[in-house]
Amino acid sequence: MFSAMRYQSGTLELIDQRLLPGEERWIRGEDLETVAVAIETMAVRGAPAIGCAAAFALAIDAFRFAGGVKWRDYKPHFTAGVARLARTRPTAVNLFYALDRMKALTAEFRDGDAVAESSALIDRLARHLYDDDLATCEAIGRHGAALFPAGKKLRVLTHCNTGSLATAGYGTALGVVRALHARGDVELVYADETRPWLQGSRLTAYELKAEGIPYKVIADSAAGYLMQQGKIDFAIVGADRIAANGDTANKIGTYSVAVHCKHHGIPFYVAAPRTTFDAKVATGAAIPVEEREAAELRRLGERQLTPEDAPVYNPSFDVTPSALITGIVTEAGVLKAPFNASIGKFLG
Ligand code: MRU
Repeated sequence: MFSAMRYQSGTLELIDQRLLPGEERWIRGEDLETVAVAIETMAVRGAPAIGCAAAFALAIDAFRFAGGVKWRDYKPHFTAGVARLARTRPTAVNLFYALDRMKALTAEFRDGDAVAESSALIDRLARHLYDDDLATCEAIGRHGAALFPAGKKLRVLTHCNTGSLATAGYGTALGVVRALHARGDVELVYADETRPWLQGSRLTAYELKAEGIPYKVIADSAAGYLMQQGKIDFAIVGADRIAANGDTANKIGTYSVAVHCKHHGIPFYVAAPRTTFDAKVATGAAIPVEEREAAELRRLGERQLTPEDAPVYNPSFDVTPSALITGIVTEAGVLKAPFNASIGKFLG
């Protein structure tokens, strides 16, 4: 199992996910802006990984300003840093969870506190959020695997990348697959290629290959056909934001998978940690959906895919209504309908 990031006080290294699987190049982030740009441009991506990277960005920023400065002098920089990170990507709520945790921590600081001491506390919280995500994903894996009786070989469909690269490590939906594989119960994983950014064919395939988990990449549009052919036992995906009623924003194309599953009577699971739930959002209608640049659809590397100026609509996420979701696998167990009640209880 590998990680998308390596942190030591003052530096965050991020594997550049845009170049995988062809090239393993690390970005060295010694300032907040480098990390903010890495999130914006998807060098680091995946909801939990974005949250961790943002927390580390605040830690390296405070570390840089630590020498001899009082909190009152640094506070405007901290506030500006939080605002900068909040503008990077709008949908994954894990980012805002991490920023809120940092804001709550620093609200305790006094103007006369030395930034050297404050930065140590920010550093500690960033490391805690990272470690917590790792432990959480392992628990999600255990609960997800427990859904299925041992000894039955399963054929799984997944969408986007929800593995080590998208989290602190282990993964959410891919963590469940990992746990099933450790038990010897994975026959085959079908990885949707996940147009337009190809998180499935580039990143999920890369992770599955590294883990020795049998897989096949399919075109997104093949998923329904495979279900019709009886080749999928269940589908499992991650999430970027889950509303209080269970409506789930995830990578564009997830909704189509869920609709196909419903039509074919195939279980459709979402796997996500507490940090992906947004109790402030009542339904999926209020989840902000990121729209990304036209170039992602117009070009593939050097290759032109459309007329140069083709008008493009490129929503990066869609929202799957909770009525299509069989269960949401969390670190505390599997939440089932009615989701308002089970999510309310889970979030306390
Ligand atoms: O645009 P991305 O690659 O950041 O989108 C990622 C996804 O949609 C993942 O499925 C989601 O973040 C869950 S990752 C554990």
